[in-house]
Amino acid sequence: MTVLRWESAMQLGVPAIDADHKRLVGLLNQLHYAVIAGEDEEGIGRLLEDLVGYTQTHFAREEDLMERGGYPELQHHRQIHERLADRMQAFRDSFLQSPDDFDMHRFYDFVSGWLLHHVLGEDMKLKPYVERAINVACA
Ligand SMILES: [Fe+2]
Ligand SMILES: [Fe+2]
Repeated sequence: MTVLRWESAMQLGVPAIDADHKRLVGLLNQLHYAVIAGEDEEGIGRLLEDLVGYTQTHFAREEDLMERGGYPELQHHRQIHERLADRMQAFRDSFLQSPDDFDMHRFYDFVSGWLLHHVLGEDMKLKPYVERAINVACA
């Protein structure tokens, strides 16, 4: 398991989206270090809930900006978000059902993997469209 760190390569240059991505990396690592520190089940459940909830908040924000910017692959991107959000919720549900059997390493690898690849591969494509949406809103 490799700890995910924020890298400048992940930066879109769109402050609202970059701040969200940074926060998601931060929440994931907070969870990771809480597990190492022996945080109790309730505390871990709360951090897991924060991460799953903030993922949904971020996806909604990104989709709104994509829509306003006229991003042509909106449906495709939305479907990817839905699949990721479903898997995050499934992990959360399995923790709630059986915390002792939860594989935190697998969860960490899943989240860090999608964060890195989705940001670099999919979110980067949004940059010109989202910038346009923000400029129109500010004009
Ligand atoms: Fe995205
Ligand atoms: Fe994103």
